[in-house]
Amino acid sequence: MIGLVVLFAVVLPWTQANAGIAESVHNLGVTGVGPSANGGTRNQFSGTAEICVFCHTPHGGDSSAAVPLWNRNLNNGSYNTYDQLGTSTFDAQMAPVGSVSIGCLSCHDGTMAIDNMINEPGSGADNSGFSAGLWSGSDVMGPSDGRLATGIVQNLGTDLTNDHPIGMQYAGGGVSASKPIIPQGETNDPDFAPVNFMVRNGRYLWWVDKDWRIGGDGVRTKTDVYLYTREAGEGYGAQTEQEPFVECASCHDPHTTENPTFLRISNTDTPSGLCLTCHVK
Ligand code: HEC
Ligand code: HEC
Ligand code: HEC
Ligand code: HEC
Repeated sequence: MIGLVVLFAVVLPWTQANAGIAESVHNLGVTGVGPSANGGTRNQFSGTAEICVFCHTPHGGDSSAAVPLWNRNLNNGSYNTYDQLGTSTFDAQMAPVGSVSIGCLSCHDGTMAIDNMINEPGSGADNSGFSAGLWSGSDVMGPSDGRLATGIVQNLGTDLTNDHPIGMQYAGGGVSASKPIIPQGETNDPDFAPVNFMVRNGRYLWWVDKDWRIGGDGVRTKTDVYLYTREAGEGYGAQTEQEPFVECASCHDPHTTENPTFLRISNTDTPSGLCLTCHVK
């Protein structure tokens, strides 16, 4: 009995502290366990036991997109963006697909092999992916070519008109470095939550506190909704300042197992809790 109590006391905190990307479907190497998200055999790459390498490298990453230490080649082709759908209610300006979203799309648009990276483990870099290793499983990927299979929801494709918009100004615009906070109801599109901000190294960082309706805690944590700062001169509208944008990682933290589908905020604990964090509906 005493032995059992000790076991729980020691083992439980350890497993909790280590739950995270290793237990998620974003662990793409040989240590990934469990079925794929679609229920079939999980796709695993035999070439490495590393987890982070599929997305990050400590040195020599791609700095053309604002994704930390990025180890993947980016798709420089074109995308169809949400504004091309032509809804008469959409009022934000869009920037070209970039920021963190182009990092996600380097796998999720289905055009590039998932083992296509810049710096594989060990000496040297070859920009063309792993020199050894094979994919097993065939549930989410086309047989062994390492790209997401076509016709599955994880493969967003390059036509993003049927996906929640990304790469657009938050709340229809208006929030910027010179006006970093606008009260709820006074943004260009009034149906949005108010933002919080801080300045780090001259860069404005905006977020929406998950508990803003009850005051919020004023601290930016990974279970808040992140907004991503786009700089002037990124090729949209007449913007001259830093502004907050919605990107893939506003809603998803690619490392988290706190909620299903890598969501920063559960959409079920509070019904549509994620959607209602930003949208005032
Ligand atoms: C499937 C791709 C992917 C994998 C695998 C991955 N990351 Fe990330 N990581 C990202 C992306 C995309 C961002 C930027 C998004 C953001 O702001 O959270 C990021 C951001 C980060 C950041 C900075 C932001 C933060 O959340 O603190 C750190 C640190 C980080 N990753 C560490 C790791 C480590 C360590 C591993 C391996 C255990 C890992 N990542 C595996 C995609 C990945
Ligand atoms: C990060 C904040 C954020 C979250 C979370 C969020 N949205 Fe949005 N959403 C926006 C912004 C900003 C727009 C662009 C609105 C505009 O400029 O007209 C938008 C646009 C939309 C549109 C298109 C509006 C149009 O006029 O064409 C729909 C529909 C929508 N969101 C639904 C949802 C749903 C459903 C969820 C939850 C699954 C959700 N959103 C979560 C910020 C968010
Ligand atoms: C290295 C390639 C890669 C990158 C980069 C990547 N993903 Fe994934 N992602 C995958 C694969 C492969 C799967 C499907 C795995 C499976 O189900 O076996 C997946 C699954 C997902 C899922 C579904 C999870 C589920 O449980 O249904 C979400 C959501 C997701 N990714 C979001 C993102 C976002 C957001 C980013 C960027 C912040 C990102 N991914 C970056 C490869 C990647
Ligand atoms: C406004 C919030 C929001 C944004 C922005 C967003 N997603 Fe999602 N995404 C969600 C939600 C909510 C789900 C869960 C849907 C469900 O339960 O079927 C989801 C599901 C997914 C899935 C799994 C699909 C499934 O149903 O199994 C993938 C993959 C994914 N997102 C990738 C991305 C990528 C890549 C981007 C950027 C191009 C992105 N998401 C942008 C909210 C968002």
